[in-house]
Amino acid sequence: MTDRLSRLARSWDEAAEGYEQYFVPRFAPWVRAAVQTIGTSLPDGPILVPCCGTFPELDLLAPRFPDRKLVGLDLSAEMVRLARARAAGRAEVVQADATELDPAWAAAGVVSVFGLQQLPDPAAGIRSWYDVLRPGGRLCVVYWPEVAEETGPFALLDKVVGRGDSTWEDTLVPALHGAVIERDELVSFPMVHPDAAAYFDAANLHGPLRARALAHGDAYIADLRRRYLAEAPAGEWTHHPQARLIAVRR
Ligand SMILES: C[S@@+](CC[C@H](N)C(=O)[O-])C[C@H]1O[C@@H](n2cnc3c(N)ncnc32)[C@H](O)[C@@H]1O
Repeated sequence: MTDRLSRLARSWDEAAEGYEQYFVPRFAPWVRAAVQTIGTSLPDGPILVPCCGTFPELDLLAPRFPDRKLVGLDLSAEMVRLARARAAGRAEVVQADATELDPAWAAAGVVSVFGLQQLPDPAAGIRSWYDVLRPGGRLCVVYWPEVAEETGPFALLDKVVGRGDSTWEDTLVPALHGAVIERDELVSFPMVHPDAAAYFDAANLHGPLRARALAHGDAYIADLRRRYLAEAPAGEWTHHPQARLIAVRR
């Protein structure tokens, strides 16, 4: 495993319990949109959930597909532990790098929410997730784009951290050559945070900022936090971030 990948795994190990409490309820509408998009008319075979985290997708997939094999995959041991507890025998959970899936899975469906943007090469990742499908199978991916909103808590975090390069996002659809693109759209829902500090601390301790905190240290995070709170509004903070949903049929 590369240093970057092992730091990412460690960051999600540290974040896992708090992620389940803070982010899973707030991200639930996007998980629902992804599972609804996978539909029910699929060929035989398992349904895979790469980057499943604590596996919130499962509570919606299990009643929809009572007779299917459902498989979550995640890099982080602690996420896998929580996912197995949630699964309680309803699904298999594998600790694995989901960057490249083995086509031998011959899957009916692949659903993934908020993992793609963390892969070292998202275009290769989405192609690999497509390549595990049987003919007629469907892939639905929801990910956070580099620009999920123009104003709000995510935008302010981008401003103080520095916005990432978004050119990789233009490579996703071309990477899916041969697929039938059924949907490619931005999906937005309201999200509420008690206040700016609560969001910053959740992102740092239980979310995507954790890997950066491990890489740069406490003084760096303290400085980010100070700059973040200096520009943030007071009180409860509601926003409407947009995630990108891509659904394709093989
Ligand atoms: C933001 S969480 C999303 C979890 C879940 N799908 C949800 O919607 O709540 C992202 C997850 O992706 C996992 N992840 C990141 N890179 C990965 C990789 N290369 N292989 C497998 N899992 C990965 C992390 O460990 C983390 O659990």
